[in-house]
Amino acid sequence: MKMNKVFSGLTLAASVFMLAACGSDKGEDTSVSAIQDKGSITVAMNPEFAPFEFKTLVDGKDTIVGADVEIAKAIGEELGVEVKFSAMSFNNVLASLQSGKADIAISGISATEERKQVYDFSETYYESVNVVIVKKSELDKYTDTASFNGLSVATQKGSIQEAVAKDQLEGSKNVSLVQNGEMINELKTGKVNAVVLEKPIAEGYVAKNDDLAIAEITLESGDSDAYAVALPKGSTALKEVVDKVIKDLNDSGKIDQFVQEAYDLSVAEGE
Ligand code: ARG
Repeated sequence: MKMNKVFSGLTLAASVFMLAACGSDKGEDTSVSAIQDKGSITVAMNPEFAPFEFKTLVDGKDTIVGADVEIAKAIGEELGVEVKFSAMSFNNVLASLQSGKADIAISGISATEERKQVYDFSETYYESVNVVIVKKSELDKYTDTASFNGLSVATQKGSIQEAVAKDQLEGSKNVSLVQNGEMINELKTGKVNAVVLEKPIAEGYVAKNDDLAIAEITLESGDSDAYAVALPKGSTALKEVVDKVIKDLNDSGKIDQFVQEAYDLSVAEGE
């Protein structure tokens, strides 16, 4: 009798499991329900990218802040779940969606065609332009993209700036570094001649470093350079929620406000 009960319990569990498995075989989208069931959403980011994500002291505690953090919070609110941030180097941010370490990634990620093959992307929320940071004392030397011929140019590992520098700064040598702070230090100490970063990030570094400046040259931006939230492929239901949040934040001008506020905070910090 007892045996039987256990057995039928197991059979029931097994059939429920099989039903669930069949459900997902048919392509049932659990991208929202899975997050709501666990009560939290884990967001991957590389918090070394002011004004979008960076660490600062809030009430004496090391805290990740920035425009992307505000976007994440709005998504958490819409889903009714707690938001957890998972900090990592940028070259691991997208891969963390595949390994299931994170549910979404918000890290100033450019929604390129290449990345769209592997991940889903939300509506875009910020248009970016690439600029070149050099030493202020050498600013006159850099008049066009050919000025970097034979010189070393640092870019963040895994970022689109690697290709931007290689393709557009003719004849330059690419130095791929994991941390943005390291690129800036190498520039200040003369180990590299230039750093390619997107404009608001570059402006933040220049505002905090008197010896640096933005070169007066124009880099082309691809039409897929705008930032978007990255999701695991096939997260249709979750993308719908994220798109709605992004649309509201875009329409209300909130994103611009988040970027401005975070920029002011990050620049004031270094003083
Ligand atoms: N927009 C660039 C890219 O997607 C750089 C992003 C770097 N983000 C960061 N948090 N470090 O490749």
